[in-house]
Amino acid sequence: MKNTHTYNTMVKFNIGGCSSFVKDADYKAYVEKALSALDVLENETGAGNDFLGWKHLPTTTPESLIADCEQIRDSWKAKGVDLVVVIGIGGSYLGAKCAIEALSHTFASSLKGDKTAPQIVFAGNNLSEEYISELMDLMQQRNCAAVVISKSGTTTEPAIAFRLIKQYIEQTYGAKEASERIVAVTDAHKGALKSLSTQEGYKTFVIEDNVGGRFSVLTPVGILPIVLAGFDIRAMLKGAAEMEEICAKKCECNPAVQYAAMRNLLYNNGKTVEILVSFSPKLQYLGEWWKQLFGESEGKDGKGIFPASCIFTTDLHSMGQYIQEGERMLMETVVTVENSNRSMTIANDPQNLDGLNFLTGKHVEECNAMAELGTKLAHIDGGVPQLQVSIERINEYNLGGLFYFFEKACGISGYILGVNPFNQPGVEAYKKNMFALLGKPGYEAQAAALKERLAE
Ligand code: PA5
Repeated sequence: MKNTHTYNTMVKFNIGGCSSFVKDADYKAYVEKALSALDVLENETGAGNDFLGWKHLPTTTPESLIADCEQIRDSWKAKGVDLVVVIGIGGSYLGAKCAIEALSHTFASSLKGDKTAPQIVFAGNNLSEEYISELMDLMQQRNCAAVVISKSGTTTEPAIAFRLIKQYIEQTYGAKEASERIVAVTDAHKGALKSLSTQEGYKTFVIEDNVGGRFSVLTPVGILPIVLAGFDIRAMLKGAAEMEEICAKKCECNPAVQYAAMRNLLYNNGKTVEILVSFSPKLQYLGEWWKQLFGESEGKDGKGIFPASCIFTTDLHSMGQYIQEGERMLMETVVTVENSNRSMTIANDPQNLDGLNFLTGKHVEECNAMAELGTKLAHIDGGVPQLQVSIERINEYNLGGLFYFFEKACGISGYILGVNPFNQPGVEAYKKNMFALLGKPGYEAQAAALKERLAE
């Protein structure tokens, strides 16, 4: 099975690895469903249509926003800032974390030599006392600034981290200087973070009402940390803009339509778990970002593909057995990186005690590519359909394209599934219990009911 109508774009989608699992006619039927869902998304007539601001971010982001981010980058550089703590959780951190991890030198923080950009670390994405205490140890050794990101401005995890980090920065640098070392990204009008930022005089960036957290990587939520980390946000937006145009096409040639169609067909055929796989460890957080995007968008009303992620070949030595021979409810979407940004060949060893001389002169990446091909064939033989998303190499332009491709496919896919892809009502349940158990005013009745349950 081949995608018969495909553009040669920066993000290529291939369904060849599904041909032994689905019938051509069934795929065509799902493409029709995907095209109808695309219509709903384009005409903004579906559930959650007040959260579609992400669709045109690549082509509408003003140059002034990027210039504002660069101005902060330059002013912090002038102060000698070498550590920026980015505080946020879920959609308010995963996109930036993904981009920065993918684009950075793997060992950037340990490499000696002059650094052109500050180290970016993340906080407020957990409630671990050890994590925040150890972060403070690092902050004490460094020249710090912080970006606090929360659309609602009320999320507990980043709020607690921000309280601690704000106090540390104020005590260390003084209140006035602290107000120049803290930037907030939040709602234009409401929320505790907005009021606090106004009172303290922080530079503030706005997350528009019509963009949900998991679709916000191309707003200041992602743009500011990516600029501070020294990467080319214009190239990222350019890549996303190219995919904005292609993923709006009302034809089978649209790769977002193809991906949404195939994964829903496979789901209908009992493949209830999708693993996003990459053979590049730099894309580990692409998997984390993608899991939030699809998990929060589709996992509702008792439905939805469960999104999982693996880095191969690493996880072939842990999850490989299950994927090859365990319960057959899996499909894999492999994000292929066609070319490495580095070059290293395997040298000859006259003794050849390890028996590896047959690899002499080959690039390490060629071994990786053959591992990818071999795994694909083995997993197909084991009953795991393969979907493939390819980019030429890891860079800002291609990552921007990948972000947009997955966002658009997610919207289409959610509508095929018959859910509102743009809400997340289920996220509230744990928060209510946590607030009740922590004694938050207003939660007394729930606290009493929970304590009774826990005593049983
Ligand atoms: O996608 C979402 O809406 C969520 O994951 C949010 O991004 C996350 O809960 C953080 O919310 P906030 O930015 O309001 O602090």
